[in-house]
Amino acid sequence: MDKHPSPIETVAIALGDRSYDIHIGSGLLSSPASWTGLPKAQAAMIVTNDTVAPLYEAALRTALAPHYKQIHTVVLPDGEAHKDWQTLNLIFDALLANGCDRKTVLFALGGGVVGDMTGFAAASYMRGVPFVQVPTTLLSQVDSSVGGKTAINHPLGKNMIGAFYQPVRVVCDLDTLKTLPERELSAGLAEVIKYGPIADMDFLAWIELNIGALMARETPALAHAVKRSCEIKAWVVGQDERESGLRAILNFGHTFGHAIEAGLGFGVWLHGEAVGCGMVMAAELSQRLGKVDAAFVTRFKALIERAGLPLRGPVLSSADNALDYIEHMRLDKKAVGGDIQFVVIDGPGQAAVQGAPDATVREVIDACCA
Ligand code: NAD
Ligand code: GLY
Repeated sequence: MDKHPSPIETVAIALGDRSYDIHIGSGLLSSPASWTGLPKAQAAMIVTNDTVAPLYEAALRTALAPHYKQIHTVVLPDGEAHKDWQTLNLIFDALLANGCDRKTVLFALGGGVVGDMTGFAAASYMRGVPFVQVPTTLLSQVDSSVGGKTAINHPLGKNMIGAFYQPVRVVCDLDTLKTLPERELSAGLAEVIKYGPIADMDFLAWIELNIGALMARETPALAHAVKRSCEIKAWVVGQDERESGLRAILNFGHTFGHAIEAGLGFGVWLHGEAVGCGMVMAAELSQRLGKVDAAFVTRFKALIERAGLPLRGPVLSSADNALDYIEHMRLDKKAVGGDIQFVVIDGPGQAAVQGAPDATVREVIDACCA
C-alpha cells in the first residue's frame, strides 16, 4: 500500500450532450462510485486482452455485478499487430453470439489498443452503444482513453479506419500501472512529456523535476501526471473535438512516429517509443525552421533520454531512408493533397501545424536516424 495514496480526482470533458468525467485515483476498479450512474442496461461486455484479463477482469466483473444481469467478456489477442479488422470482428461476434441489444454497455479494459478497438466497435455495433474506458496503461490514461478517437490500423497506415465516438466515462485506476512492464511505462511517459512543449512549459519543468518519481511509479507523481495531461487534453478536445484545427497539436511527434510504426511493421516499436523519437525529430525540425533554439532541443532530448525512450530513429530503408519516411508520412491523416503537415514547436509551450521544405525534412531524418 502506498504511504500517500492519492485522492480521487475528476477531470471533466465538456462536449455538450457528449460530456463525461475522467475519474483518476487508486483503487478505482473496486470502488462502487466508479460504476454508479452509467447508462442502464441488462448486459455489459468487458473487452480486454489475454495479458490484462488475468490481472484485472475478475475485479471489474465483481464491481459491475450489482449493475448488470449479464456480464460477458471477450478476450482479444494482445498487441498492436492485432489492431485490425479480424480482431475487431471478434468483438462483434461476441456481442451477437450473446444476443447483446443496443443498450449493452461496453467496457474497454486495457491499453490504447483495446480502448481504440472497443470504441470503434461501440461506435458501430447496432449503430452505436455506450462504452466506458477503463485504461490500464499510462499511455491510455493520459491520452488514448480521452477524446473519442477510435480506430484500427490498415497495413498501409496507422489508425486509418475509425470514428470519433466519445465514451460515457473514463476510469483511471492508478494501481493498475504497478504491473506495467518498464518499456510500456516509458512509452506512456512520451505522451505525458508531449503536453509540455505544446501547451504548458510549467508542466514540462514539473516532469523534469519528477521524472525519477514517475519512473519509480510513485502514486502522487503518477496522479499529477495523469490529471494534468487529461486537463490539457480536455482543454484541447473541448475546443476542437473533430480535429478541424487545434486538436492536431496533440499529434506532436506523431507524423514521424507513425512512419516509424508503419515502416517497421506495427508492434516492432511501441507507439509511445515511436512518438518519443518522433518528438525529437519534430523538435529538430522546429529548430531548423527557426522556431526554437538549440538549447531547447538539447533540453528536450535530455528528458526523452531520462524517460528511457529512444533518441534515434530506425533506418527504414538502406537505399533512401529519408524517402521511405517521407512516403509513409504522405499517408498521414494531416497531409493535404500529399503535402505533409508537421506539428512544430512555435516557441516554448506553443505548437503550430505547417508544411516544411522536403530538403529540410530530409536533413532532419538523416541527422536523427541511426
Ligand atoms: P497497448 O494497448 O498495446 O498496451 C501495452 C501493453 O501493455 C500490452 O501488451 C497490454 O496488454 C499491456 N498492458 C496493459 N495494461 C497492463 C497492465 N496494467 N499491466 C501489465 N500489462 C498491461 O498500448 P498502449 O501504449 O496502451 O496504447 C497504444 C495504442 O493507443 C496505439 O494503438 C495508439 O495508436 C493508440 N493511441 C490512441 C490515441 C487516441 O486518441 N485514441 C492516442 C494515443 C495512442
Ligand atoms: N492523441 C491525439 C488525439 O487524441 O487527438
